[in-house]
Amino acid sequence: MVGTPKKHFLAFLLLLSFCSLLILLYSPHPNPISTQTFTLNSHSIPTTPAFSLTIKVLTFNRLNSLTRCLTSLSNAHYLPDHPVHLHIFIDHFPNQSQYYIAPKPQDSLGILRFIDGFEWKWGQKIVHYRTTNVGLQAQWLEAWWPTSDDEFAFVVEDDLELSPLFFKYLRALILNYYYNASNFSPFVYGASLQRPRFVPGRQGNKMLLDSTSGLFLYQLVGTWGQLLFPKPWKEFRLWYDDHKAKDIKPFLDGMVTTGWYKKMGERIWTPWFIKFIHSRGYFNIYTKFLDEKSLSVSHRDVGVNYGKTAGPDSQLLGVNSLDNNFLEMKSLSTMKWYDFCFREVVPGRVVRNLNDLGSILPSVQTKQTVLLVSLFGGTSCD
Ligand SMILES: *[C@@H]1O[C@H](CO)[C@@H](O)[C@H](O)[C@H]1NC(C)=O
Ligand SMILES: *[C@@H]1O[C@H](CO)[C@@H](O)[C@H](O)[C@H]1NC(C)=O
Repeated sequence: MVGTPKKHFLAFLLLLSFCSLLILLYSPHPNPISTQTFTLNSHSIPTTPAFSLTIKVLTFNRLNSLTRCLTSLSNAHYLPDHPVHLHIFIDHFPNQSQYYIAPKPQDSLGILRFIDGFEWKWGQKIVHYRTTNVGLQAQWLEAWWPTSDDEFAFVVEDDLELSPLFFKYLRALILNYYYNASNFSPFVYGASLQRPRFVPGRQGNKMLLDSTSGLFLYQLVGTWGQLLFPKPWKEFRLWYDDHKAKDIKPFLDGMVTTGWYKKMGERIWTPWFIKFIHSRGYFNIYTKFLDEKSLSVSHRDVGVNYGKTAGPDSQLLGVNSLDNNFLEMKSLSTMKWYDFCFREVVPGRVVRNLNDLGSILPSVQTKQTVLLVSLFGGTSCD
């Protein structure tokens, strides 16, 4: 006689689950079901975060440079299940010769013809051919407005050449320093694949690195192959609008970029970005490889940045550099942080200016880590 009530109870339970299932199925918010399914699966199959990467190639009138650049990108190693998109921005030749090199319409035709014939089999290929000459600043700033927090941009000027291993390295950086919560910091705005070499200061100095540096954090942007994280980039774009509207110039005392700005004005973008990074206390990831090799080299061809061709800045890492340690990513807590002057800064430093504290506090509260840099007054590195 004990069995019967139990049976009834079981039948009742069954009916109850069936009803709940029906309710869930016909609920106007189908989210509970899909969320549950996802949670169940994620226990058995470890998933890699799905993010999208777009290479933003900025070009103008240097066909030979562009050919070398796109060829290197095309020959790099990608993954069959991870599309990488290519977005090419072609600046227009100027209507009058305001520049020291006067590009001719036939230069653009050559560039367009080459790009049309260039096959990109790793993802979408999108070409943006401008109607006026906008210069490097707008080329960079208008290259990207992220559509989600899982979208990344890798900006490549056309006189760069990339190592076949660059994508694998970028991917490892993103997975480790963006998606692994224990190595994520809201202070990190991206990563540069160029050889770390330059310390801005008043004149600009050569960086002195010890032999064991490997991966480290440094505030300066590295424009020869810069990976950008979505949130800081959007912040920068809004900050830029705000400063432009108020007619504030990107001057920073004791910083060589102030001189660049006075000379080049709105043709370059780095003084703006450097001022923004300085005011937020943000950092960029760099890697020092053996023999000063790198995953991205600039051939420093004649153009806006160079009056005459200066030649490659360092040697590219070849495929044979791929050993077990190559993709080994340090934990953030063991990495060193360097300010614009390449002075090591220690997490936990006291802030001395209340205005700057305001912009830092929200991220400190969410991350429970305190990393404050001396960002006050100017920057005297010399
Ligand atoms: C040439 O370009 C300048 C600067 O972009 C612009 O202000 C000017 O109106 C242009 N002139 C013609 C004739 O299109
Ligand atoms: C996340 O980073 C920590 C610290 O570096 C490391 O121990 C852990 O294995 C990483 N997790 C994954 C999934 O890679």
